[in-house]
Amino acid sequence: MLIAHISDAHITEPGTKAFGVAPMADNLMLCVDHINSPKMRPDLVLLSGDVTNDFNVEQATYARAILDQLAMPYFLVPGNHDCREVIWNVFGGAACPSRHGEFINYVIEDHPLRIIALDSLHPGQSGGEVCPVRLEWLADQLAKGGTRPTLIFLHHPPLKLGVPETDVCGFIGADALGDLIRQHPNIQRILCGHIHLDTHSQWCGTTVSTAPSIGMGLDLNLDQQGESEFMLTPPGYFLHHWLPQEHLVSHTIHVETLSGPFAFANVKA
Ligand SMILES: [Fe+2]
Ligand SMILES: [Fe+2]
Repeated sequence: MLIAHISDAHITEPGTKAFGVAPMADNLMLCVDHINSPKMRPDLVLLSGDVTNDFNVEQATYARAILDQLAMPYFLVPGNHDCREVIWNVFGGAACPSRHGEFINYVIEDHPLRIIALDSLHPGQSGGEVCPVRLEWLADQLAKGGTRPTLIFLHHPPLKLGVPETDVCGFIGADALGDLIRQHPNIQRILCGHIHLDTHSQWCGTTVSTAPSIGMGLDLNLDQQGESEFMLTPPGYFLHHWLPQEHLVSHTIHVETLSGPFAFANVKA
C-alpha cells in the first residue's frame, strides 16, 4: 500500500501567490502531476491541513479544482489556516467523507492500513487542540479497530519539535492524547503537517512524522529567537510505503530534481 502525503498547500486565489511570493497553486499542480505519474500512483493521497492560506471559500474551491485532478482518492483535514465550515462546504462528502458533530473526524476503513482523520483545529489559534469530545471519539474508533495496523492523520503535531510552531503555540489536550496513544501499540504512525519541515520523532510508543510543505519551508532557527520566516523550497511530499512485512517506510519525494537517474554501476570507485 502506498500513501502520498502532502501538506500545507496554503492555496490563495487564482493568479496570486501566498504572502505575495510563494507560487503554491503551481506547486500543488506539480505535486498532483508527479503523484499521478506511472512511477508513483499511490492508493490514496492525504493532505494534512492548511489547504488554504486565508480561510476563504474561493481559495478552498481553487484547491479542490487542482486536487480533483488526482487519479486516486484523496482525503484532508483542516489546519489553522483553514475555516472548518468552509472546508466542510467545499470538501464534505468527498475528501472529508463524514464528520462527527462540528469536527471533521472520520475513518478510512477499506485499506490494509486503517486511517483515522482527526480534526486538531482550535479556531482563532495557531496551536492545536484535541478536546474531550474529540478524544472520546478517537478512543471509540481505536477500540472498534482492535489490533489492526492504524495511522492517525491530523494537522498539528502533538509534541514539542524545537520550533515555535509547536513549542510556543502548543497543543491543548496533548497529554491526554498521548495517554490514549500509548494504549494502542498498533498505531504505526501519526502523520501531521503544520511546521513546514519533514521530521520524525518518537512519541508515546509510536512515531510522529511531519510532512514538508509543498513549497514554503520553515527557515530553521533552533534558538527560536525572533519571528518565524519561510524559504521558498522545491515542491515535495512524503510517500509512505506499507510493506508486506508490516513496516511503514517513509520517503521524502522531491518533485523537481537536478538531473538523472544515473546507474550506480557506471560510477567508478
Ligand atoms: Fe502551514
Ligand atoms: Fe498550520
